[in-house]
Amino acid sequence: MPGMVLLGAQWGDEGKGKITDYLAEQADYVVRYQGGNNAGHTVVVNGEEFKLRLIPSGIISGHATCVIANGVVVDLKVLIKEMEYLKAKGVDVSRLKISDRCHLILPYHIKQDECEELAKGANKIGTTKNGIGPCYMDKCARIGIRMGDIVDKDYFLSRLENAVALKNDLLGKLYGVEPFDAKAIADEYLALAENIKDQICDTSYLLDEALKMGKKVCFEGAQGTLLDIDHGTYPFVTSSNPNAGAACVGAGVGPQHINSVLGIIKSYTTRVGAGPFPTELEDATGVELQERGHEFGTVTGRSRRCGWLDLALVRYSIRLNGINGLALMKLDILDTLPEIKICVGYRLNGEEIPYFPGRLDDLAKVEPIYETVEGWLCDTTACTTYEALPEAAKHFISRVESLTGVPVKIVAVGPGREQTIIRDAII
Ligand code: GDP
Ligand code: IMO
Ligand code: MG
Repeated sequence: MPGMVLLGAQWGDEGKGKITDYLAEQADYVVRYQGGNNAGHTVVVNGEEFKLRLIPSGIISGHATCVIANGVVVDLKVLIKEMEYLKAKGVDVSRLKISDRCHLILPYHIKQDECEELAKGANKIGTTKNGIGPCYMDKCARIGIRMGDIVDKDYFLSRLENAVALKNDLLGKLYGVEPFDAKAIADEYLALAENIKDQICDTSYLLDEALKMGKKVCFEGAQGTLLDIDHGTYPFVTSSNPNAGAACVGAGVGPQHINSVLGIIKSYTTRVGAGPFPTELEDATGVELQERGHEFGTVTGRSRRCGWLDLALVRYSIRLNGINGLALMKLDILDTLPEIKICVGYRLNGEEIPYFPGRLDDLAKVEPIYETVEGWLCDTTACTTYEALPEAAKHFISRVESLTGVPVKIVAVGPGREQTIIRDAII
């Protein structure tokens, strides 16, 4: 330690929130480094459910300082609402720090997301329509507005006037959108910022000081590796880099501070939105996984597509992120299956391939090579130790380890914090 990255190694919704919450008890800082309120994490503590989108899941328990770092895009309305929601549940949100370099999601980003999805028709990505992509586009186009800009009223208004003029021109001409009023947006967002302005700071500096003092810092990825803008199943991806390397850029820390990378995987695979999915199950088993796993999105309520565990995909994630430990989630969802399939590789045009295809049409064509293992057909949700798990479940876990070459350090058998089996020291 002290720097550990925790991230999703599939297409998101692996259970990152649950593991972050669990590990936060031992951490001094929990840092979100990318994405925005497209993320949706459900965390269950002593039977009470918490739903988070923007604030690191480390906020719920323990004492960790939680950081929304520079790589995150922030919708202030969502942030304030989430802070109010947590406060009402008795959570101390004064432990939250927000980077002055975060980009703000503004109403025209949300409108642009909606219009572009509609214009794409059958080729739509299936975004969460939260303005994530357009906000990152503006960041790269250098017309974005940052959290730090909002502390100076006049500067904020001048930046906003510049951006709104460009957006009105673009959205008006392309989609016939009614013009946005920069002054009205400024008034609304300046008022919102009053709630958090004392929490805005240079979080890269804050983290550097903490790391130099040997504090334990957990960098929490949102989304998942296969949704990464560079390495995911492009174009059916999000607009940021959930990958481990991006923790350094997205939080403003040097790579020497990252000592370990924990990859979170579900015991099967899910995906929200469009795009190829080699192990997708469009049969009764797929429906069973969806129903037993409650695979419906926290953010959009859309049903998640379900399929068998794909270790060809997980091996790709392991390589990209330098994952040196796995957390295997939702093992209990497999409790009712007499047989379980694991995808151990892909065949493309009849040949086994050692790589994960970059071209989507290739990915759409690959045939998964399956290994079948026996199910355990008993309830695992009360197991609190590895030894207590049924033999067939232990065999499933050991196959995951041998087929990936990475130890499974955590096994989860239910949404509750107590349903977490720790096999090896994590932090
Ligand atoms: P995240 O986006 O990666 O944080 O994951 P989500 O919260 O979107 O989705 C994971 C869902 O599975 C949540 O509803 C969790 O409460 C739940 N969950 C996490 N781990 C387990 C587990 O081991 N078993 C079961 N049954 N549910 C789990
Ligand atoms: P967590 O952190 C699952 C998906 C969307 C869509 C694509 C692009 O809960 O794992 P965007 O709004 O980001 O431009 O949408 O990415 N997506 C997610 N899928 N879990 C998430 O987050 C996701 N965040 C974005 O469904 O397909
Ligand atoms: Mg989620």
